[in-house]
Amino acid sequence: MPSRLTPSSGQRSTPSAAPAVSTVSASALASGFSTRLIAWQRKHGRHDLPWQNTRDAYRIWLSEIMLQQTQVSTVIPYYAKFLARFPDVAALAAAPVDDVMALWAGLGYYTRARNLHRCAQAVVEQHGGAFPASVEELAELPGIGRSTAAAIASFAFGARATILDGNVKRVLARVFGVEGFPGEKKVENAMWTLAESLLPSNASDDEVSAYTQGLMDFGATLCVRGKPDCLRCPFAADCVANVTGRQRELPAARPKKAVPTRRTWMLVLRDGNAVMLEKRPPSGIWGGLWSLPEAADEAALATRAREFGGDGAVSPLAPLTHVFTHFKLDIEPRLAEFDRGVGALAALGDADTAWVSLSDLDSFGVPAPVRKLLESLQGSLI
Ligand code: ADE
Repeated sequence: MPSRLTPSSGQRSTPSAAPAVSTVSASALASGFSTRLIAWQRKHGRHDLPWQNTRDAYRIWLSEIMLQQTQVSTVIPYYAKFLARFPDVAALAAAPVDDVMALWAGLGYYTRARNLHRCAQAVVEQHGGAFPASVEELAELPGIGRSTAAAIASFAFGARATILDGNVKRVLARVFGVEGFPGEKKVENAMWTLAESLLPSNASDDEVSAYTQGLMDFGATLCVRGKPDCLRCPFAADCVANVTGRQRELPAARPKKAVPTRRTWMLVLRDGNAVMLEKRPPSGIWGGLWSLPEAADEAALATRAREFGGDGAVSPLAPLTHVFTHFKLDIEPRLAEFDRGVGALAALGDADTAWVSLSDLDSFGVPAPVRKLLESLQGSLI
């Protein structure tokens, strides 16, 4: 058994730092990782899934494509239906694509179904109806990425190739303390290198299959996202996440994108208890709602105030910020006061502008932050 590691990677690193793999854990665990995982798989892993206990590359490929982004329990009935209808790759290749799509209906991610059909045709046309055995050739076929190619090659041909799907990334991040978001290229590359270094050496075909299945089963049933079962984990004593209590932090979450900020100037044109609202264009933010007239800067706002019949004098009100999903909006409100009486002002309105009493905002669709701003104004009037 590898020695217990020193949790040197317990400190956090910034998200932008290069992915740190604890070298202590990597070297100490590397030799024992596959042995322990294979032993765990033989005792606790899954052995009776419909696509196991076969070396038929067609059946294995079909299952791996269906299992991309889809749970085992959902896949099982579809897998049975497909095999009954298309017992081999030639039958699938010869079928009209519409039949394939119809049988796939309900499994989702329909590009997979189209690629499945294209892949079957490529296997027939380019490989004489037999799936190629190498990861490289498999990965050139439609719908087969690097990880899926490795799964097929190891299950069907005993190839010494590593998978690296979302579950495996989680396991590696935790056990070996790989820092950084695994969706980031440099982190992912570090994980591929680590995963390859962990493959069992001198392994029989059965051991290779057990190792690959073990990686899948371990991530899917024990080292799960929410509440990993560390008490039953064969790596508990060495796992960086367990030793340092960072199961929730590893793997690192997708970094939050910095949201851009936009700035707008809003004109609060007030006459007594009424304000001028303007209908926004039908598309874009607040499409079709009634809001305050806007401009891109203070001078342009004064021009707009003059257009509405004012003298251009505006005074600042307290700024506010509204957060949208993709950006922040800094609002700079400016007040321009009229004193004409709303009756006279009503005539100034057109289809896209209206003088609205502050007590009548409910009758108009007004964006939440604008409404907040106007309500604070109403408070100051009472
Ligand atoms: N997910 C992807 N491939 C799988 C497999 N062979 N068994 C169980 N789950 C999987």
